Formats: sequence, structure tokens, C-alpha cells
Amino acid sequence: MALFNPCSALFTLLCISLPAVAAEDNANLIERGAYIARAADCVACHRTPAADGPAMAGGYAIDSPMGAIIASNITPSKQYGIGNYSEQQLADALRKGINAKGQYLYPAMPYTAYRGMSDADIHALYAYLQNGVKAVEQAVPPTQLAFPFNLRQLMWGWNLLFLDPPGFTAKPGASEPLSRGQYLVDHLAHCGTCHTPRNLLMAEDPQQYLAGAPLGGWIAPNITSDKVSGLGNWSEADLMHFLKTGHLTDKAQAAGGMAEAVENSLRYLTDSDLHAMASYLLSVPARRASQATAPVRREVKPVAMHSLETGQGDQASLADSSGLDGARLYNSACASCHGRDGQGSADAFYPSLSQNSSLNGNQANNLVMAIVHGVQRQGADLAVNMPALGADLNDEQIAAVANYSLQTFGNPQLSISAADVASLRKGGEPPLLLKAMPYLLIVAGLLGLLVLYGIWRWTRRGK
Ligand code: HEC
Ligand code: HEC
Ligand code: HEC
Repeated sequence: MALFNPCSALFTLLCISLPAVAAEDNANLIERGAYIARAADCVACHRTPAADGPAMAGGYAIDSPMGAIIASNITPSKQYGIGNYSEQQLADALRKGINAKGQYLYPAMPYTAYRGMSDADIHALYAYLQNGVKAVEQAVPPTQLAFPFNLRQLMWGWNLLFLDPPGFTAKPGASEPLSRGQYLVDHLAHCGTCHTPRNLLMAEDPQQYLAGAPLGGWIAPNITSDKVSGLGNWSEADLMHFLKTGHLTDKAQAAGGMAEAVENSLRYLTDSDLHAMASYLLSVPARRASQATAPVRREVKPVAMHSLETGQGDQASLADSSGLDGARLYNSACASCHGRDGQGSADAFYPSLSQNSSLNGNQANNLVMAIVHGVQRQGADLAVNMPALGADLNDEQIAAVANYSLQTFGNPQLSISAADVASLRKGGEPPLLLKAMPYLLIVAGLLGLLVLYGIWRWTRRGK
């Protein structure tokens, strides 16, 4: 007679369930890591030059004013990726900007933001990058910046000046959602890398936290709680909706880098995280752009009707776009979607231009950039596609249609010249550091000569 042995039954149960529990824990960890990677938007940069290539394979060139910085392969390939990284080495790359070879990374890799990532998040991210991503056995081209930016050692001094110590410090007295929001905004989603202006040495200026900054021709607008130039008139629900979908009727649409942030990252975040970010952002002290003195105009202006036909298609009909008359250009290239009087479509799928942050703010860069590059984005709700007209319209025409739009629907004090369009197409004004570099090099060279002369004099003194 076989005796029932509870101990061995328990033992078998344990034997079977322990690995199962471990595997499930591991799957959970990898899934959490995938969420962190989304929230921190690793894939925005660590992608292939072709948008549909394998995730994290790198090779994408990030335009910086210093030149193109190539994103690394961070798949688990042992030869070309980070397959040999330990968790500590990943933590050092993320928080200190130092890779496993001990090289200094350029701050195009946003380690100044990731420095605040928690151990638990890095642990999950490590599990995901090593086990949840397919290894891609492919090298990326080297980054080749001009002298002196090719000297990675320079970053040692830069880090000394501008890299805060690792770790997250919540604002004193902040509630749980507010500090979660601050953690997400500052350390995972790195909003400040685009929205905070940079100082002379290209580091984010803490005095101007989230106050709006130029970004390769675009403007990442002021997102502090200022009522005139920031988000002071947005509700938490508005902001959550915008971050998730990339559009907010009669306020703003996400194009350029913001469209990418929505598409790759923000649309995947949980409502509770989006809520935390929105409530934190609305608590950020207001900063006002010096040129913004009056509230942004939000009223719809009555528009004189033109005798031109409105196109009915879903495409810009450029048949009538050879001239330089802004009204004609608008009617042929824009009106079929945005309406003759700029009111947009009834469902707001084609947005209103008279209630639009890229026309009624203090700068018209985003209007010009949207015309040149169009708007492409997949949000949590729908995909939008405004065609890029940069190849069909020349600089004079773009200036003409932009000025007509500003005069008719937007801030009439703004105006755009063909030279402005040409400069924005090239990525906007270069930063002062770059403009000053030739002079700095001459000064450094002269100082070097002076030192050599001094040494020469000194060695001759005894003779
Ligand atoms: C805004 C762009 C950007 C984002 C976002 C970004 N990276 Fe990077 N990363 C880069 C660039 C560019 C480099 C190469 C920098 C260099 O050559 O100095 C890099 C380098 C690295 C390296 C060093 C690779 C090596 O061995 O040299 C690691 C590791 C890394 N990134 C991990 C990540 C992870 C993980 C995330 C998400 C949490 C992330 N990165 C998000 C741009 C980015
Ligand atoms: C890669 C750069 C980049 C990152 C990262 C980024 N933004 Fe933006 N953001 C932009 C740009 C550029 C615009 C302007 C888009 C346009 O007008 O089409 C913008 C627009 C916005 C707007 C609309 C403001 C207005 O008045 O029109 C909000 C709100 C916003 N961003 C919030 C955020 C938040 C919050 C984060 C972090 C979770 C973030 N952004 C991260 C570049 C970025
Ligand atoms: C084929 C339809 C179509 C045409 C033609 C078109 N647009 Fe758009 N436009 C869109 C769509 C779609 C969006 C994005 C809506 C969204 O983000 O939800 C958009 C967005 C915009 C925005 C907001 C961009 C931002 O960054 O905030 C502006 C400004 C704009 N269009 C101006 C124009 C102008 C000026 C023209 C003519 C030169 C034009 N559009 C032609 C469909 C069109």
C-alpha cells in the first residue's frame, strides 16, 4: 500500500513551482524594464537610420551643433552591442556618461537626466536590454566630430561643471504623485533636454528650467506654469491628453521631436504616470520669456473671404503655388485641410490655425518647420500626416505663406523672411559656443605661444 507522503508531495510541488515562479518574476522584470525603456525613450535615438530597422541597433545620427553623433548599438550583441556589460557598467553609462571601455560619452546621450534613475529601474532595464531585445550583429559608424570636440576627455571637465551627482531628490514636502511626476519628467522622459535653454557651454541652465529652447530649427516651447508663455492655462486633463495623443484641440499639435516623443514613448505610459507628470509640470514655477508681455491671443479673427476656390482634396493642391502671393499660396497649399479661414475641420482632425500655439506665440519657427517638414505622428488614438512642403515651395514662398497665416490667423507682430526660412531649414542659429570656437581656438593658440615664449625666455636666462 503506497503511503501518502505529504513531505514529498510538498517537495515536488516546490520543485515544480519554484522555477515557474522565478521565470514569471523574470518575465515581469523584463516587462518592467521594457516600460522603463519606453518611458526613457531609449529607442528614439538608439535606432537604425531607417525608421523600421531593428530596435536598439543604433547607427542613427543625432544632429548636434557640433556635428553628427552616432547612437550606439545597445542590443545584447557581445561584439557590437552591450552584451558584455555588467549591470554596474550600464548604471555608469546612464548616470555618469562613461561606457564600459571607460570612454566619456557625449551628452547627446542624456546621462545628465538619467543620473537620477533608481537602482530598481536600472535593474529592470538591464534585464530587458539583455534578455528582451534581439541581438543585432552590426557595427555602427564611428562619431567623427571636428577638433576640439573630438576630444572625449573634454567631457571630464564638462561633467565636473555640469553633471549633478547620481540620485533623485524629490522636492521637499512633495506628495507621492508629484515626486513620481518629477522623477518621470526629469530623469526618465528627460523633457528638459529639449525644453530647457542651454548656457554658453551647452549645458541646461537650471535658472531657465523648462522655459523653452531652440532645437534644430524648431522651438521646444516654454512648459512652465506661466500663464502667458507657458502651460498656465492648460488643465491636468489637457496636458495628459496632449502627451498621450500629441494633439489638443484649439491649443497645440506635436510635430518634430515632440511627435517622436509621443510616438515612441509617451503614448505608452499609464494614465497614472501621465497624471503624475501633468500635475508635476503644472506645479513648476512660472518662467516668462522676456519678449512675452501680453497674453497669447486665442480669439478667432474674422477673415476676409478670398475669391479663390477652396481645394476639396485631402492633399495640398500645389497647382497654384508658383507665385509669391501668400493668400494664393495658402489657398492652394493649405486650405484644403485647414480651411479657408483657418478654422480646421469640424472634428479638429485638421487643426485650427487661429487657435494654435505655433502661430500665436512669440516665435514662428514651428509654423515654418511644420510647412517644411510636415507633421507625422502616431499617437495613442490616431495617426496624422501633414505632407512636407519643403521640397515643393521655395524659401520666398514659405515666408509668404507663413506671413499670410500669421497676419490672418496668428500673432500679426511676427514676420518671417526668406533668409529666416533658409536658416531654419539648416537647423537654426548655431549656438554661441560654436560661433565663438574659431576665436577661442585663436586665443588658445596665442596663449600657447605666449607660454612657449615664456619657457624659452626662462631657459635662456641662465645663459
Ligand atoms: C537623445 C538620444 C539618446 C537617448 C534618448 C538615449 N541614448 Fe544612449 N546614447 C546616445 C548616443 C548619441 C550615444 C553615443 C554617445 C557617444 O558616442 O559619446 C549613446 C550611448 C549609449 C551607451 C554607451 C554604449 C557604448 O558602449 O559606448 C549606452 C549603454 C546607452 N547609450 C544606453 C542607453 C539607454 C539604456 C537609454 C534609455 C534609457 C539611452 N541610451 C537613451 C543617445 C541616446
Ligand atoms: C526631442 C525633444 C523633445 C522632448 C524630449 C520633449 N519635447 Fe515637448 N516639444 C518639443 C518640440 C519641438 C515641441 C513643439 C512641437 C510643435 O509645435 O509641433 C514640443 C511641444 C510640447 C508641448 C506643447 C507646448 C505648446 O505650447 O505648444 C508640450 C506641452 C510639451 N512639449 C511637453 C513635453 C513634456 C512634458 C516632455 C517630457 C515628457 C516633452 N515635451 C519632451 C520637443 C521635445
Ligand atoms: C493634407 C492636409 C494638410 C495640408 C495640405 C496642410 N496641413 Fe497643416 N496639418 C495637417 C495635419 C493632419 C496636421 C496635424 C494635426 C495634429 O497634429 O493633430 C497639421 C498641422 C499643422 C500645424 C501645427 C503644427 C505644429 O507643429 O504645431 C500648422 C501650423 C499647419 N499644419 C500649417 C499648415 C500650413 C501653413 C499649410 C500650408 C502651407 C498646411 N498646414 C497644409 C494637415 C494638412
